[in-house]
Amino acid sequence: MSAPQDGPESLGVDLSIASVARMYDYLLGGKDNYAVDREAVVKLRLATPDIDDVARRNRMWLQRVVYFAAAELGIRQFLDFGTGLPTQRTVHEVAQEIHPDVRVVYADNDPIVLAHGRALLEDNDRTIMLDADMAQPDTVLRAPEVLDLIDFGEPVAAIYASVLHCLPDEAHPYEVVKRVRDALPSGSCLGLSHLESEDQAAAEALTESMRKSTPYWGRVRDRSEIRRFFDGFDVVEPGLGDIAEWWLDIPAVELPLASDYVRPSTASPVIEFGGAGIKR
Ligand SMILES: C[S@@+](CC[C@H](N)C(=O)[O-])C[C@H]1O[C@@H](n2cnc3c(N)ncnc32)[C@H](O)[C@@H]1O
Repeated sequence: MSAPQDGPESLGVDLSIASVARMYDYLLGGKDNYAVDREAVVKLRLATPDIDDVARRNRMWLQRVVYFAAAELGIRQFLDFGTGLPTQRTVHEVAQEIHPDVRVVYADNDPIVLAHGRALLEDNDRTIMLDADMAQPDTVLRAPEVLDLIDFGEPVAAIYASVLHCLPDEAHPYEVVKRVRDALPSGSCLGLSHLESEDQAAAEALTESMRKSTPYWGRVRDRSEIRRFFDGFDVVEPGLGDIAEWWLDIPAVELPLASDYVRPSTASPVIEFGGAGIKR
């Protein structure tokens, strides 16, 4: 395994614009971020003071939902949409500890994620990193390398961890998830978390902050909107809710936080809402 050698400019990264992937990396104590990302996080904390904890809880949940799909459901194929920087407990690390033959397709459209992902995965012939826009699911479902790796006759776990809020309504996020659901056989799993608030002012403050920092972002949605993504799936216990509470008895590795994070005394009314479902 080797780190990517190319600098950000040679990867086509505009260092004057924050990226969701790199902001999230910063929230999780990572080093693959730039001044513009850190400044955007500082502004984001004004809207949602405990956003660091929200992000960290999500990444802890990602480990648990992948463990659940592999260990409880016996699933050996994963499609991870909007992978993020693969530095901390990625999907294949968790799943291949349970079944070494697990195959994973990572799909993201951030150049830094793609460069790091490809470097990390070059020695793992059961994983691929695809440059794909999740708003165009057929670019994943029909990619030749995906068809080589994934058997769509066998159950697959589709993971949308903290990504669908990146899609605005004009990108038809429900159609996107439905297209993926329709491509998967019965018994497949959907693991999905999404920024949620029932407090309209809090939802708008976070959405506005993200839209000011990044050129293309969706919005925080409420729980009735997020439940719709699970149409066609039987939701597993304990149901849909704050993923921080979901199956806490599943083991997960503790993750760090940004060194400059100061936890507020009260939690904001924003959470990652979601859970898991099994396709009927
Ligand atoms: C908040 S991070 C979540 C990372 C990871 N899924 C997790 O839960 O730890 C969101 C990721 O979605 C990716 N992303 C955003 N919009 C995307 C799109 N339209 N297509 C593919 N990836 C996208 C970003 O680049 C980023 O890596």
